[in-house]
Amino acid sequence: MTFEFIKTRIENDKVAIITLDRPKQLNALNTDLMIELGQALKDYDADIHIGCIIITGNEKAFAAGADIAAMKNYDFADVYATDFITKDWEIIRQIRKPVIAAVSGFALGGGCELAMMCDFIIAADNAKFGQPEIKLGIIPGAGGTQRLPRSVGKSKAMDMILTARMMSAQEAEQCGLVSRVVPLDKLMIETIEAALTICAYPRLAVLAAKESVQRSFESNLSDGVMYERRLFHSLFSTYDQKEGMDAFINKRSPLFKNK
Ligand code: CAA
Repeated sequence: MTFEFIKTRIENDKVAIITLDRPKQLNALNTDLMIELGQALKDYDADIHIGCIIITGNEKAFAAGADIAAMKNYDFADVYATDFITKDWEIIRQIRKPVIAAVSGFALGGGCELAMMCDFIIAADNAKFGQPEIKLGIIPGAGGTQRLPRSVGKSKAMDMILTARMMSAQEAEQCGLVSRVVPLDKLMIETIEAALTICAYPRLAVLAAKESVQRSFESNLSDGVMYERRLFHSLFSTYDQKEGMDAFINKRSPLFKNK
C-alpha cells in the first residue's frame, strides 16, 4: 500500500519504522494520516517477520497535535456523530507487538497523546511535550487527561493541561513520561537498537509482557497480579521457555523459535 502522509521502512528485516510525514504542518494529525497510520500498524502487527514497531516524526516535530485547520469548523454534531478521534486514533491500542515512540521536537496535544499511546517513549534532547488544547477552547481528546496523570501524577498533569506549558525532554524523563533521553543525532540509532533487542527475545514472552503491563492500567492490583501469574504460567508451555532456561543452564546462546 502506498501512503501519502506517512513513510514506512523496515530495518534489519524485523523492525518496522513509521515516519509521520506532513513536515510543513509539523505533522499535524488529520484523519487521513491517522487512517494510514492505523493501516500500517495493523499490517506490521500481522507480519510475522516484524518484531517491533517504531513511530517517529522529524527533527522539528513528532506531531504538533490534531490538525487545527481541519477541525476548526466542526460543530458538536460533526464530532459526536463521527466519533471524532476514536475509530481512526485507537487502532494503536489493538496492536499486540511493542510500539516505541521516537520523539524529537514538538509532541503537543494529539502528538503527545499519540506518543503516550505507544508502549514507551525515547526522546531526543530537543523534544518538547505539552497538552496546549486549553488555548484553543478545548481539552485533550485523545486520552491526555487520562494517560498523562497515570504517567506523571496528578499535580504535573494538571499543571501541563491547565497552563498549557511545554515540558522539556529532561523534565519528561525526570517525571517518567519518557523512558530515556538521547542526543538528537542518536535518536533513531538508539531506538532501533532497543527495538532489535526486543526482537531478539521470544515473541510469545514479548507479547505476554506487553499485555500484562497494559493490564496494570485497567485493573486493580489483585486482578492484575492474577492476570500476570496466569500469563507467566502459560509461558511454561512454550518451546522458547525450555530453550531459554536450558541455554542458561548450559551456558550457551539460546536459539528461540517464537513458539
Ligand atoms: N494543526 C494544524 N497546523 C499546524 C498545527 C496543528 N496542530 N501545528 C502547527 N501547524 C502548522 C502552522 O499552522 C504552520 O502552518 P503555515 O506555515 O501554513 O502557517 C506550520 O505548521 C508551522 O507552524 P508555526 O509557524 O506555528 O511554527 P512555530 O515553530 O512558530 O511554532 C508550535 C510551533 C509551537 C508547535 C505551533 O505551531 C503551535 O502552537 N501549534 C499548535 C499546537 C497545538 O495547539 N496542538 C494541539 C492541537 S488540538 C489537539 O491535538 C486535540 C487533541 O487532543 C487530539
